[in-house]
Amino acid sequence: MKFGFFDDGRKEYVITNPQTPYPWINYLGNEDFFSLISNTAGGYSFYLDAKFRRITRYRYNNVPIDSGGRYFYIKDGDTIWSPGWKPCKTPLDKYECRHGLNYTSITGEKDGVSVNVLFFVPLKTWAEVQKLTIINNSGQTKKLKLFSFLEWCLWNAATDMENFQRNFSTGEVEIEGSTIYHKTEYKERRNHYAFYSVNVPITGYDTDRESFFGLYNGFDEPKVVAEGKAGMSEAHGWSPIASHYLEVELKPGESRDLIFILGYVENKDEEKWESKNIINKTKARETMARFNTVAKVNEAFDDLKKYWENLLGIYNVKSADEKLDRIVNIWNQYQCMITFCFSRSASYFESGIGRGMGFRDSNQDLLGFVHQIPERARERIIDIASTQFQDGGCYHQYQPLTKRGNNDIGGGFNDDPLWLIVGTISYIKETGDMGILDEMVPFDNDMSVAKSLFDHLTVSFDHVLNNLGPHKLPLIGRADWNDCLNLNCFSNDPNESFQTTENKTEDSKAESLMIAGLFVVSGREYIALCKKLGKSAETARAQKHVDMMVDAIKKHGWDGEWFIRAYDYYGKKVGSKENEEGKIFIESNGWCSMAGIGKEEGMVEKALNSVKKYLDCDHGIVLNNPAFTRYYIEYGEISSYPAGYKENAGVFCHNNPWIIIAETVIGRGDEAWEYYRKICPSYLEDRSELHKTEPYVYSQMIAGKDAWRPGEAKNSWLSGTAAWTFYTVSQYILGIKPQFDGLEISPCIPANWKQFKVTRKFRGATYVIAVENPMGVNTGIKSVSLNDKELSGKLLPLCAHGTVNKVKVIMG
Ligand code: GLC
Ligand code: GLC
Repeated sequence: MKFGFFDDGRKEYVITNPQTPYPWINYLGNEDFFSLISNTAGGYSFYLDAKFRRITRYRYNNVPIDSGGRYFYIKDGDTIWSPGWKPCKTPLDKYECRHGLNYTSITGEKDGVSVNVLFFVPLKTWAEVQKLTIINNSGQTKKLKLFSFLEWCLWNAATDMENFQRNFSTGEVEIEGSTIYHKTEYKERRNHYAFYSVNVPITGYDTDRESFFGLYNGFDEPKVVAEGKAGMSEAHGWSPIASHYLEVELKPGESRDLIFILGYVENKDEEKWESKNIINKTKARETMARFNTVAKVNEAFDDLKKYWENLLGIYNVKSADEKLDRIVNIWNQYQCMITFCFSRSASYFESGIGRGMGFRDSNQDLLGFVHQIPERARERIIDIASTQFQDGGCYHQYQPLTKRGNNDIGGGFNDDPLWLIVGTISYIKETGDMGILDEMVPFDNDMSVAKSLFDHLTVSFDHVLNNLGPHKLPLIGRADWNDCLNLNCFSNDPNESFQTTENKTEDSKAESLMIAGLFVVSGREYIALCKKLGKSAETARAQKHVDMMVDAIKKHGWDGEWFIRAYDYYGKKVGSKENEEGKIFIESNGWCSMAGIGKEEGMVEKALNSVKKYLDCDHGIVLNNPAFTRYYIEYGEISSYPAGYKENAGVFCHNNPWIIIAETVIGRGDEAWEYYRKICPSYLEDRSELHKTEPYVYSQMIAGKDAWRPGEAKNSWLSGTAAWTFYTVSQYILGIKPQFDGLEISPCIPANWKQFKVTRKFRGATYVIAVENPMGVNTGIKSVSLNDKELSGKLLPLCAHGTVNKVKVIMG
């Protein structure tokens, strides 16, 4: 069953039934000011950091779901309704939500009155603009009462939820004209306030929550709306809100536009005050003035649309399959922008409090983002590298506001450093910017011990070498990519977090075959970079270590039919036929196969056949099999999850692309495609009821074959799946691969594909690449021509800036 449809022309997903199987959300803003918005206008806003600068309040995991947002109430006679259906839930005559690229447009219609609200964050603006349009489509004059509503968060989203003995006494607002200012804590250490305005005079307002709703009412029955007049309340402590009250009279056919702005302002210490206790509103007024007419708002909206047109023009496919085209051209790239902005911090599953920017996560996110705005990718790489330690180890995450690393979700993950190599090299291949390697980058934010970014890559590489175990394989540390395979934790206290509890690495023999494979793949990239830089000694040194790792994997990492997953604390195999449960895992088979280890001896093919046999199911490839059915103290969190969920045999979408890429390594285009399609949301739209999460974005996890409800997804939006699937489809299936000196063409597609076309902007030139597959092969290139000249290899050379180049590729 579907709850809407894709409107590819407008690059929107259109939801026609507000009762989606879960709130289906969107993100506004992509720079500093951000909002999450659901299809019923739920959600919240923050500046830069969802934990430390939460602007509006939201209640996670509440009853009903999705509680809190920017709500409008229309009172038409005795009927009260909301254009987004919620919170009133009054049945609407028409409902439509269009989620577009960084904007959402919601329309509700009731008794001849139509209300549309367009929500977006204009570029370079610290505000969410809400353009509300009311049309009277009825035959008679309508005297409507309109109430806006949002609830302020007391800035720190964590203490906002727990420190009520203080919070209920701190709230402060100011009201001036049609603008409500939220200034809690501004008089002490804060340099910021927020405001909510409308561009016309108002009839009334409320700023105190209890006065607005009545103490015992929900969002669906505000007291003042029922009474039909504002309470004119002024918040002192308790829970400050912002609500405007407007009376709107419309003749038949008449319409009215109103522009609401939710803004954020920072002032320097010496500019904080206008007069005693009166905040300096200059910047707020400037923002309001920028968007006080429909024409100005429309112009800002057009700018946003153009911005996205440009970004999406960099990689564009035209195939015979519209589901593929829409995911590649629009939604997957959009999701890559969102994961770039938020890492794993703020979604409807990530509370914005627990996690900041992940070292491993953000580096991987770059794979899907570098082509979009390389300058921002560059800055991110430097930020991430700046939190690294001198020995190559890393903080697992940093807080976006401070850019300082922390141990809030653990530390000592031995895969972390290698991702810096992966992220940085993908940036260099996209841009050719070797100069980034010379940037002086601090360790743990201490500039006095700064070294070049290249040196950071070297210490990352060496961190693995300095942490080898008994089989000369990488020691796992707290965990590798799979945060939940905790081989050194041995936790038997439910009050401990697996992520932060003691990590008994001393004397541990726990080694990871996932890190081993990743080391070979990223190590080869590092070697290629060293060669390119003419560093021959380093090239040779690194090559020696990569070769030794390959040998160690062949010798100690092979189980006969697949790669084992790890050795545990005691040196016993994990992910082997010797095990009772968890005999085979996806990660080591993905990475060792991507590295092509033992390809000549048939190991890769065997490993991938085993993956197919034991891990594949209707909903994707599960993480391990058989699922763990009891708690294994020596494995930790992985065995804490019920079978079929999350890291315990769920389809953890993030790692499926590793197998897909591995399939392309041995040229099996049909298998690669089949796996790709299985987890791709645009192909799952018809099953929305089961899948539950948005059909336009990937989710972290789909319940696996052992689950109670296989096929049900969770954790949509913020997942490495976004970057990995885009990387996989764009570079390995469609096969357009940035290299240091050009664009390599090596598709690996289903045999029955006749042709496809990719337009790729790369280092200033445009390549229009037409690929034909007359012989029905999976892979292999017969000829490549550039502007009608035959090339000898499959590497397109760099072309002059601004040129449009015709590329013809014949497979066979
Ligand atoms: C989460 C984490 C990521 C980790 C993965 C597997 O998605 O953000 O860092 O690799 O889970 O445990
Ligand atoms: C839990 C999750 C995992 C996530 C980790 C980090 O272990 O299962 O996916 O990466 O928490 O907070």
